[in-house]
Amino acid sequence: MTPREEWQLDTRHLGKRVLVFDELPSTNSYAAMLAHDPEQHGVAVLAEQQTAGRGQHGRTWQCPAGSGVLLSILLFPPRSLRSVALLTAWASVSVCEVIRKTTGLQAKIKWPNDVLLRGKKVCGILIEQGQGTVAGIGLNVNQSQESFDAAELPFAGSLAAATGHDFSTSEVARRLLAELDAEYERLYQGDFASLETCWKWRVGLLGKRVTAECFDGRRDGRLHDMTFAGLHLAENDGKVAVLQPETVQHLYPEGRPYFPLIEPGSA
Ligand code: BTN
Repeated sequence: MTPREEWQLDTRHLGKRVLVFDELPSTNSYAAMLAHDPEQHGVAVLAEQQTAGRGQHGRTWQCPAGSGVLLSILLFPPRSLRSVALLTAWASVSVCEVIRKTTGLQAKIKWPNDVLLRGKKVCGILIEQGQGTVAGIGLNVNQSQESFDAAELPFAGSLAAATGHDFSTSEVARRLLAELDAEYERLYQGDFASLETCWKWRVGLLGKRVTAECFDGRRDGRLHDMTFAGLHLAENDGKVAVLQPETVQHLYPEGRPYFPLIEPGSA
């Protein structure tokens, strides 16, 4: 597997080296293969298409060749940044910012790791931790809504479907790498507050009645606060439960999941 090209971006932490492939089984799997060497910190892997793209919970990630950004970044973060909840927020907020700068539209985060634009899922994030940490991002850019409907993915969307025009996937990828790098630098300098504020706003559930589906059952209540250390849920008995982000599988307005949580055709 030889990259088609290599970019060298003027960044601080990630993207100094970007390997661009025509085709890979999975950019996450390729990045994980480099993880035996901490010197590879920050290497980014892009592919025009994946033959075995991987999603959450063992699902597959489908994206026709050249229609989206398929990106993985290999990181060896300091201990303070090694939390999946934090890195998921880092990736999802960065994607939302790039969508705003590219389309002028405000995207939303659907807990824990989906980005929605006009109510449709345009991006999925897969953080995998082994020898290093691999942050994988699949962002739908130029697929038509008809193509998603034909693939029985009525809840999927793309930047083009939301705006009515196409975008350069390599330009979107470059913007995304720059945004991820700038946000990573803030975290590296110990500024967690900026990301936390943007994340709370993009999730959009603060002060609302919500349902939290946790590994040990379902809980309803009012969401009083959200930090990377815990979700503060005022339950019906008046007590405030602090739920560790990693234990919350789904979070949505009470009784109203954004869409069926198991999407047809995505398994
Ligand atoms: C999800 O299930 O929503 C997460 C999807 C993550 C897909 C991306 S595409 C680039 C990277 N390589 C993979 O194999 N998966 C991630």
